[in-house]
Amino acid sequence: MAGAAETPAAARVSHVYPHGSRLNERGRLEIGGCDVIELAEEFGTPAYVYAEDDIRSRAREFQDAFRRRTDRFEVVYASKAFPCTAVYRLLAEEGLSCDVASGGELFLALRGGFDPKKIYLHGNNKSVAEIRYALDAGVGTIVIDSFDELERLEEMAPGQRVMLRVTPGIKPDTHAYISTGQEDSKFGFGVEEVPRAIDRIDRLELVGLHAHIGSQVFQLDPYEKLAEVLTAVGDYPLLNLGGGLGIAYTADQEPPSIDAYVESLLRGAPEGVTVLCEPGRSLVGNAGVTIYRVGTVKEIPNVRTYVAVDGGMSDNLRPMLYNARYEAEIADRFGGASLCTVAGKHCESGDILVEDVLLDDPRPGDVLVTPATGAYGHAMANNYNGIPRPPVIFCRDGDARVVVRRDTYEDLAARDAV
Ligand code: LLP
Repeated sequence: MAGAAETPAAARVSHVYPHGSRLNERGRLEIGGCDVIELAEEFGTPAYVYAEDDIRSRAREFQDAFRRRTDRFEVVYASKAFPCTAVYRLLAEEGLSCDVASGGELFLALRGGFDPKKIYLHGNNKSVAEIRYALDAGVGTIVIDSFDELERLEEMAPGQRVMLRVTPGIKPDTHAYISTGQEDSKFGFGVEEVPRAIDRIDRLELVGLHAHIGSQVFQLDPYEKLAEVLTAVGDYPLLNLGGGLGIAYTADQEPPSIDAYVESLLRGAPEGVTVLCEPGRSLVGNAGVTIYRVGTVKEIPNVRTYVAVDGGMSDNLRPMLYNARYEAEIADRFGGASLCTVAGKHCESGDILVEDVLLDDPRPGDVLVTPATGAYGHAMANNYNGIPRPPVIFCRDGDARVVVRRDTYEDLAARDAV
């Protein structure tokens, strides 16, 4: 974090940025000890830039928060938030377990070195091929989502450790698209269906219940309630309360701390039960920023100033999909008073990354940064308009390394069969 002894400007790097970020002596943003203007020159833009130590420290924060209170816990990385080999490797090293939602995520998790026993396979419609792959790989636990899947697993996987995904009827206060715990959901078994599902289990080993109420959640009481609802369903050794802890996307947001979240998870859970949680966003979201290059600045008198950057909805779908609000800064001139709208380069008017943000007199050639893009940025990147997806750069102690390279034009044609 920025310290008082640094330049006054350093104080303006808020908690939305990765741990250890600061403005250096030249007034430039530094992530993991690396000057982002230099990163832009070396690796090009757009690029996802992560402070590797930020991810590690949050993984430790989760584990320490549990460890202070119990030795019966498991922190499971919800890898959909940021699935790439480097982060799987890093979190496997940190001793976490891993949630995969598809055969592809399973492939990457195994490639990153996760012990298959510590992998949980999720999904509301796992294919037979995905189940087969998981069984062959020795995946520890499969989370059953429906009666059809239960039948399939009874056939395919006698003796397999499973959990049942429950829809607890709890609706947190978040965007409807990322709310999953309500009764009307494509995920899991309704509470009243669970006994019938449990009765149906014959050859599988049911070790516990799972529920995930939604994502980007700022309230903690739904988690206490959730533990109570699941406990009322039955007595099992494992209770997985899902992910969902929200993060700050803008400086005014103050989500609950990891410690307070863990406290709530444990408060509602009975003694002797092993509590699992599945953080995705809160492990990796604030660890990453996106750097762009400004290409054009278009001032429409009395209307708006569009600052267009060299990425957009192909590297960050969240503003368009969820109306998500981000911040932006010129990487070597934080602060500023010019009211601007940061636009992407895609052929859609809706391709706006940040509406109405104050920047310091942006000009073509400037490097612009949007913080808190570490979760569901790279994960949901696409090639719309034939835009090559950005690289992922890990920074640590002043060293930067490419952990995912930028797409090439050849990559765009790699699957074309003619
Ligand atoms: N566990 C399960 C079963 C989940 O479905 C999810 C997220 C998580 C854990 C992790 O949730 P987190 O801790 O990251 O909130 N694309 C959306 C988020 C979709 C989340 C889907 N499931 C976004 O960009 O906001």
